[in-house]
Amino acid sequence: MKILVVGGGGREHALAWKIAQSPLVDEVFAAPGNPGIAAFAQTFPVAAEDLPGQLELARRLAVDLVVVGPEAPLCAGLVDALADADIKAFGPDRRAAEIEGDKALARDLCRRHRIPGPGYRWFDDLHQALAWIDQRTPGPLVVKAAGLAAGKGVYVAKDLDEARDAVRECLERGRFGAAGRRVVLEDKLEGPEVSVISLTDGRTIVPLESARDHKPVFDGDKGPNTGGMGAVSPAPRVPARIASQIEREIVLPSVHALNQEGRTFRGFLYAGLMLTDNGPRVLEYNCRLGDPETQPLLMRLKSDLVPLLLATVDGTLESCEPPEWDPRPAVCVMLTSDGYPGNYPKGLPIEGLDAVESGPDLQVFHSGTARRPDGIVTAGGRVLATCALGADVAQARERAYAAVRRITFRGCHFRTDIGLR
Ligand code: GLY
Repeated sequence: MKILVVGGGGREHALAWKIAQSPLVDEVFAAPGNPGIAAFAQTFPVAAEDLPGQLELARRLAVDLVVVGPEAPLCAGLVDALADADIKAFGPDRRAAEIEGDKALARDLCRRHRIPGPGYRWFDDLHQALAWIDQRTPGPLVVKAAGLAAGKGVYVAKDLDEARDAVRECLERGRFGAAGRRVVLEDKLEGPEVSVISLTDGRTIVPLESARDHKPVFDGDKGPNTGGMGAVSPAPRVPARIASQIEREIVLPSVHALNQEGRTFRGFLYAGLMLTDNGPRVLEYNCRLGDPETQPLLMRLKSDLVPLLLATVDGTLESCEPPEWDPRPAVCVMLTSDGYPGNYPKGLPIEGLDAVESGPDLQVFHSGTARRPDGIVTAGGRVLATCALGADVAQARERAYAAVRRITFRGCHFRTDIGLR
């Protein structure tokens, strides 16, 4: 079987790495892929968002399955376009993917179906948004661009002045273009965050193991939010009782709600949750695997991923054996460029990659790298992730950080507290 992975980040590196281990698979391709994927699969310089280019490539390679990693092509309808061309494609279609592509739509869907989340309002109009903020009791407020903003469209405003500024940033200054023409204003919730990802074909739900992302750029959860500075699986503080409450009160009703609204979801449904004193609350949905949560999750997945992907597309997940997980925890540490999540340099040589001895218990996943004639260079804000399994979190951390210490590039930054509570 031939499989094409669409995307070029760490999530897609981990997906391609796992897919390549399947005995069902003869060849893995990736577009655009990255130098880490190119070490074991053929890559093609077609952007993930280039729908006609991806369609043409899938046809030319005569692949049996396309696995779409990132949200942008999912929300743009790549799976619909492939299905129309009779090419099997894994991931939600455009209407289902809107659960991530339109945060106002997602909040309204939750409200209609009584899925617990924060109090919220959404606005397209600057003056109405500011007038609503003026009537609020002073305090923190979360301001979100409703559309896709590459993980940068969320402001956690500590007071109403910051909230006003964030609203102006979207609705007046147009920082996120079309993605910020509508803003969602939400009560700020308190509690530990957890990412709950499930595989579903719209009828059967297969929960993955829990994972926790570390979003702020600095140790101790300080500084601005990023796409994720590291992740650990399983997530601490999710005992079985809470996990089943999350499934009952959030995941099942979400899948049903999507079905009822004609948005049947087939793929990885990601619920970003806050475990508040009053129970779990939905912070956001994503229509795909998280990055970097995918990296530790797939290190821990012992079962073959490919039959699960195929069954999701075919609507036969019910007949699959539940996935088997390595009980050992995995820790993933992201190495980022100087200045990220703001502006950062690119093209800096990366040293030491060869000094890391990868194996089933330790991998270095490429997120933002490029190959130049003289070696591999930085090409993004998030550059690489070292990911290790260990007998316990302490050992997984020790292994992941030992690999971090071998890799260098100018201005390399990483958090030192990934996996610590
Ligand atoms: N790690 C969060 C995300 O993938 O959106």
